[in-house]
Amino acid sequence: MTDTDALLDAAARVAANSYSPYSQFRVGSAILDSRGEVHVGTNVENASYGLTICAERSAVFGMVAESVSASSESGAGRIIAVAVWVDAPEPVSPCGACRQVLTEFGNPDTEVILGCSAGGRRDVTLGELLPDPFSDLTL
Ligand code: THU
Repeated sequence: MTDTDALLDAAARVAANSYSPYSQFRVGSAILDSRGEVHVGTNVENASYGLTICAERSAVFGMVAESVSASSESGAGRIIAVAVWVDAPEPVSPCGACRQVLTEFGNPDTEVILGCSAGGRRDVTLGELLPDPFSDLTL
């Protein structure tokens, strides 16, 4: 059973490290992987706005970098649950790019917990957020 409250707390804590001088929109994300490890990420903006990376993708890339290799294919685990916390009155839903990247390591049942500083919370699944993801059928 996933401790989703703890995962949301981890996302809220890392949002304090958000580098968001342009939007002033702090986002934190925490991933629980299939090995029981938690990986966090935050949004990192850039003066060239389009180079900004979202908190969710930061967390996914951190997960891959931090995972101990268990096979020759990839050391990365699978995503059991992901929390996204924003410093805002309402929770927000991950952007389309992040949904596709989360799908690479998750599955339709992956839990997505959305929270915010005002205390609101919404629980959905990755399958609900991105029901028809791109998949490379040539692989
Ligand atoms: N942002 C995220 O970190 N995650 C999302 O799913 C959407 C948006 C960030 C990017 C940017 O730094 C700020 O929020 C405003 O768009």
